[in-house]
Amino acid sequence: MKPNLNVYLRVSNFHPMPEKNLRTEVMLTLEKKVQSYLDDYLIPPEKIWQPSDYLPNPQSDTFMSEVEEIREIAKDLGDDFWITLVGDMVTEEALPTYESWLMDVVGVDQHGQEGDNGWARWVRMWTAEENRHGDVLNKYIYLSGRVNMKEVEISTQHLIADGFDIGTARDPYRNFVYTSFQELATYVSHNNVSKIARKAGLKELAKMCKIMPEMK
Ligand SMILES: [Fe+2]
Repeated sequence: MKPNLNVYLRVSNFHPMPEKNLRTEVMLTLEKKVQSYLDDYLIPPEKIWQPSDYLPNPQSDTFMSEVEEIREIAKDLGDDFWITLVGDMVTEEALPTYESWLMDVVGVDQHGQEGDNGWARWVRMWTAEENRHGDVLNKYIYLSGRVNMKEVEISTQHLIADGFDIGTARDPYRNFVYTSFQELATYVSHNNVSKIARKAGLKELAKMCKIMPEMK
């Protein structure tokens, strides 16, 4: 019997290619272990660093003098430094884009029979940790007095509204390859900012930019 090509094409769209089936299988095999990795290695929110650890404490009597010191040193750093820092901050603040993208990767499932699968829980916990990065950078840049915050806020809103397409579709392997290079690039950028900040005397900024890409 001659196959009905139209039906075949329509049905084949619903079935991933063989190699993609293998990728799904690998993701679902690893999924069984993800919860135990989260339990064993994730540092709880009360123990991991929080943005407040690197910022002047607004409840302290020394808050104003600490902010004044930051503002004085910040004046000596060039525009290129602040532009880089704003770029790093805006990239961190587009976190809603990254969470919605990761939730859509094959093998990540937040609507399973038992609710979230391990990968979906990992994505949520990663997002919760990651949220500290844009938060701490935003507050520090705000206190520095060197940046037009309203323009930055408009850029961030545009960035999140536009979304992004990194060309990996929902393929977990391609997404892992992408994130491996992207995390390295983030590390290099934050690390270079950290070195310049340390040299200038912005110790807390140096520390936060050093610790941020270290996944802790
Ligand atoms: Fe980050």
